[in-house]
Amino acid sequence: MSILRKLKITPLILGFTIALARFLWKEDKHIITTKYQYKNKNIPSAFDGYRIIQVSDYHNAFFGRSASNLLRAIKKANPDVIFITGDVIDRRTPFLKRSKTFIEKVTNIQDAYYVTGNHEADYTKFHKLYEIIGNSDVVNVTKKAVELEHRGEKINLTGVSDVWFFGDEENIMTYRNFSNEIKKNVNNLPHNFTILLAHRPELLSIYSKNPVDLVFCGHAHGGQIRLPIVKGLYAPHQGVNPKYTEGLYEKDGTTMVVSRGLGNSRFPFRVFNHPELVVVELKKEY
Ligand SMILES: [Fe+2]
Repeated sequence: MSILRKLKITPLILGFTIALARFLWKEDKHIITTKYQYKNKNIPSAFDGYRIIQVSDYHNAFFGRSASNLLRAIKKANPDVIFITGDVIDRRTPFLKRSKTFIEKVTNIQDAYYVTGNHEADYTKFHKLYEIIGNSDVVNVTKKAVELEHRGEKINLTGVSDVWFFGDEENIMTYRNFSNEIKKNVNNLPHNFTILLAHRPELLSIYSKNPVDLVFCGHAHGGQIRLPIVKGLYAPHQGVNPKYTEGLYEKDGTTMVVSRGLGNSRFPFRVFNHPELVVVELKKEY
């Protein structure tokens, strides 16, 4: 008697299992690039056509040896700058070596700027990751503002650490301190156009209270399973049928870009929701 017969696995069940495994693998590993155009009259003329690529929620996922498939896709997008919006590590299944390789290699493509996600906040070896980032050419903007220069003109870029770095989410002071940190980082900046990097999309109402034109977020993983009508099924901190899962959202003059991200966390699959790189092309509005 064959092993399959012993285990009561019919050829039909075996075929279905193989097909399902192939489908889930492809859903999880085939990176797509989504392009948006963003117009604003405050964008300096030199930044007209400037290409931002957002890499979010990497979660130390496997994208080829030495993150080669991911790095190739980033390079192919031909960015002027790279924004990394948190969860570069996964707190439950951390492969620090993968995150290290990605961090060290990504700046071979273009200048890269980083903010933390909630997984960094809850990662026991966070100090090691921070050391890696500190020793790399990736610029951490969680506590500071920098200038992005392009063809002689400049815009402001800053970021904020994930909420979990400010304490218990049940404590009202946590959000107050988070909000104050943004205020501190974005006020009195020297140029007319400001970009904020912040991990969480559900906090748009906090970002929009500040003089921020464009904010880049991730965290929602596109709702993990995407269906035609419901779109994203579930996102952390938004629950079932989440509001912010992908694309552009506007509130009080602040536009939020939400990436569906690249990796997974507690729920190990993506369905109809390929890993995503986001490209935002800035357009000067006249
Ligand atoms: Fe997250």
